[in-house]
Amino acid sequence: MTPDFDLKQYLEDRRLMVEEALEVALPQQDGPETRVVEAMRYSLFAGGKRLRPILCLAASEAVGGDLKAAMPAGCALEMIHTYSLIHDDLPAMDDDDLRRGKPTNHKVFGEAIAILAGDGLLTEAFVLLSDYNSLLPERAVQVIGVIAEAASYRGMVGGQVVDILSQNKRAELETVQQMHSRKTAALIAAATESGALSGKGSEAQVAALGRYGRAIGLAFQIADDILDIEGDTELLGKTTGADEARGKVTYPAAVGLERSRQAANEMVNDALAALEGFDDRANPLRSLANYIITRKK
Ligand code: IPE
Ligand code: IPE
Ligand code: MG
Ligand code: MG
Ligand code: MG
Repeated sequence: MTPDFDLKQYLEDRRLMVEEALEVALPQQDGPETRVVEAMRYSLFAGGKRLRPILCLAASEAVGGDLKAAMPAGCALEMIHTYSLIHDDLPAMDDDDLRRGKPTNHKVFGEAIAILAGDGLLTEAFVLLSDYNSLLPERAVQVIGVIAEAASYRGMVGGQVVDILSQNKRAELETVQQMHSRKTAALIAAATESGALSGKGSEAQVAALGRYGRAIGLAFQIADDILDIEGDTELLGKTTGADEARGKVTYPAAVGLERSRQAANEMVNDALAALEGFDDRANPLRSLANYIITRKK
């Protein structure tokens, strides 16, 4: 790792770059769709970390690709992620009032529009990907497949189903690992894989960055579970203590805080090992792996 790499500055620069692209991808609308686009934009621009697009761009660079080439994939991932948060917060799911430091979508727009805003974001992601001009059609189709698979019932949706159906049950480690891999790690791995594909990475590079993404993705959700216990509502922008209150099956519920921290550390090491064949251009990814488990928000 280059000692002078300033991760904080890097995250800030990349966040602004992503936000600019999202603004172009989802501008305000006039007409019958005004309300739903307003709701989509409300959550999309509520102040997320933009971690999935940042990982996507960093993976493209790690394989020597162009940063901008990965931007459509990055924006699509952030739209899908934001849709998953809007639906995750609904009364029928986690029933949360606070997200990204603001009232949740359904609190502002009502449940019907919140559901439609989620649907709208999911669909818009694929509208964006269908216009992937900077890639050869064959690559673009691969990117679309990777992202769709990660969002599917085999990925994020399936993980959310396990989350809901496990509520108030005994937390078994295997169930939690399965659930976390699907509800969170799948989309994070899709970010690094689609980034590598957009950057014209080789098959081996795409596979290695997929391993990296799955490992930090699992670590990311473990950190999220820990922050729900130890974090600060103000900093996080979401209400802490919610998992225990709802009988959620989490990593700490299964194995305790100490072993959860250890597991997250081990996963970060696995992620770093997956980057062994990469040169200095993967340094941001190396730094991001450690950030995943030390972050406070
Ligand atoms: C929160 O994701 C939901 C999980 C998958 C744990 P983030 O912590 O990336 O949320 P934002 O995008 O910064 O709001
Ligand atoms: C959410 O997990 C994972 C998603 C796919 C949205 P959580 O329910 O733990 O996420 P937060 O804590 O509400 O952000
Ligand atoms: Mg949830
Ligand atoms: Mg939740
Ligand atoms: Mg959580």
